[in-house]
Amino acid sequence: MIGVFDSGFGGLTVLKSIVSVMPDYDYLYLGDNARVPYGTRSQRMVYEFTKQAVEYLFHRGCPLVIIACNTASARALRKIQQEFLPEAYPDRRVLGVIRPSAEEIVEKGMRSIGILATEGVVASGIYVEEITSLAPDIRVYQQACPLLVPIIEAGEAEWEGTDMIISKYLRELFNKGRGIEAILLACTHYPILHEQFVRQAGSSVAVLDQGPIVADKFKEYLARHSDIEDRISRNQTRCFLTTDTSERFDRLALVFYGEPVTAQLVSLDSLCL
Ligand code: DGL
Repeated sequence: MIGVFDSGFGGLTVLKSIVSVMPDYDYLYLGDNARVPYGTRSQRMVYEFTKQAVEYLFHRGCPLVIIACNTASARALRKIQQEFLPEAYPDRRVLGVIRPSAEEIVEKGMRSIGILATEGVVASGIYVEEITSLAPDIRVYQQACPLLVPIIEAGEAEWEGTDMIISKYLRELFNKGRGIEAILLACTHYPILHEQFVRQAGSSVAVLDQGPIVADKFKEYLARHSDIEDRISRNQTRCFLTTDTSERFDRLALVFYGEPVTAQLVSLDSLCL
């Protein structure tokens, strides 16, 4: 199976895009709902939680795990790839959502981009680093949007206050840089507010969701890595795991995944590693 990990429900927006591009593979989704949000946590905690989740998915039989969470990709992926995997699981792979997004921005020929993300992602500076390492002349402006994840998880995406909060964040972003051509919704939850962002950003600014970008890049990755691709089963199954109550997961999964799911409650601590 392909493992897909997120701090909670948000990664379901990414899974949805991946499944629509590559429906044949088997997918195992894990949401660490008991410990969400990651966006306000320290680097050390996000690394420990993410490593534990990745290892759990390995033990459930995933040769490859996609970290759908921007915060976990920003705070943990590099260390997992450079230190943890070579030592403990040299034959497994872990991918994130930041590099593919950075590549897409560069390939689209953008000159000025706004990144909307959690506090943790903004503090890491990873988008600025990744994008400018590929194209040093691109101007990258960041804006943390800490109120949006709790609003979306509370089911208040349609609330009129949400529009005011989006407007405040966009104003702050646009004040930082002139001529921003596109904004990247660099958090798993923000695509739920896609329409509001499009309405408020104005017609001259493109609003980019990560799901389709990550799905296309992941497809290219598998085409280049037949050694990994050969190890992924193809029975079109989708399994959902959560570290918190499955009732809540199933209810909110309808919003993020758009289809009814039945999740299974798991404990990451119970693993004998
Ligand atoms: N999944 C996180 C992200 O994409 C948002 C939720 C959280 O803070 O854990 O950054």
